[in-house]
Amino acid sequence: MGKNVFGSGEFGSEGRLPARVDPGAIRPLSVAGETLANNLVVAPMAGVSNLPFRLIAREAGAGLAFTETVSAKGLVNGGAKSRRLLRTSAREAPVAFQLFGAEPEFLAEACRLVADDGAVWIDLNLGCPVKKFIRNGAGSALLREPRRVAAIVRAMRAAFAGVLSVKMRSGWDDQSVNAPEVARVAVAEGADLLSVHGRTRSQQYTGRSDRDVIRRVVEAVPGTPVLGNGDVTQPADVFDVLHETGAAGVMIGRGAMGNPWIFAETLALAQGSPAQRPSHGQRWNTVQRHIELMRRCFDDDGALANNLKKYVVAYAKGLPGSARFRREVVETDELGILLDRTRRFFDGAQAAA
Ligand SMILES: Cc1cc2nc3c(=O)[nH]c(=O)nc-3n(C[C@H](O)[C@H](O)[C@H](O)COP(=O)(O)O)c2cc1C
Repeated sequence: MGKNVFGSGEFGSEGRLPARVDPGAIRPLSVAGETLANNLVVAPMAGVSNLPFRLIAREAGAGLAFTETVSAKGLVNGGAKSRRLLRTSAREAPVAFQLFGAEPEFLAEACRLVADDGAVWIDLNLGCPVKKFIRNGAGSALLREPRRVAAIVRAMRAAFAGVLSVKMRSGWDDQSVNAPEVARVAVAEGADLLSVHGRTRSQQYTGRSDRDVIRRVVEAVPGTPVLGNGDVTQPADVFDVLHETGAAGVMIGRGAMGNPWIFAETLALAQGSPAQRPSHGQRWNTVQRHIELMRRCFDDDGALANNLKKYVVAYAKGLPGSARFRREVVETDELGILLDRTRRFFDGAQAAA
């Protein structure tokens, strides 16, 4: 994952007021027999979208969350790491399990395994730009092979009766922006929903997510819901994406890190109430709850500390002293020290308010 992936945008900022709030824009979303309470969903993010992160976002109002991406081959080969990524809780049902791979047989077999565990929603990763994926022909490498995409979706569809979705980038590079074509192929083979991140593989996380490509995908697959994704960091962006693209919903990734309130704020605005930023007390309560959920997920203190850092730093973003807090957090591997520094930082923020 590129170094600057969390760098763009102002996450958790006060933000601008939405230019338009269409009250009908935020609504329940029905997809192939599943009805979500609303059309705001949490993006799959490797190393981020684990069970605690997803639960926090769902508690804040998100209608659905996607898991971290899971290797189809890893699952089929009985890999413990891949299995762990499937961990879920009844409190987040339904959840969308994201799989990656390049071979139709492995993806189909992985679908059967995940379905046996009770999955009702499986997503295919056609977006990941990292070299390891590309070398294996997975993630966004598949955008260059629509015929293989067809074979994969066909095999997954034959193996899985639940909701089958596909997440893609806009194309491989700016010479081959083919998301509308790939979308048509996926839908023809039985995909029920698509998510589109409006950047090419070459762009990685630079530039802006292109809403025009998202709109063209929406137009390419009438009747199939499309989620617009990319650079949504505040409620105003949600309403803009829906308005400009005609998408059925919005998928939020980095903008929900340390800022699960983006969901509650958007829902409030859609209902005609002002969007309230969380008080320092509310922020600290959420940080504590997130830490508590993480504790239940990790047996090992070292792993817990390492995994916690990115979240507490994200919650601190925008608060006075957050740059120093970030440095202090990054330099320690001790869980006790990390928790102590976190408590002191958020206590201080509360006292200063
Ligand atoms: C740390 C990180 C990990 C990601 N992992 C995945 C992944 O496993 N599968 C996937 O489809 N997209 C992945 N993405 C892409 C996001 O789902 C999303 O498409 C992208 O970040 C743009 O949306 P955003 O601006 O709301 O973050 C990842 C993004 C980040 C920042």
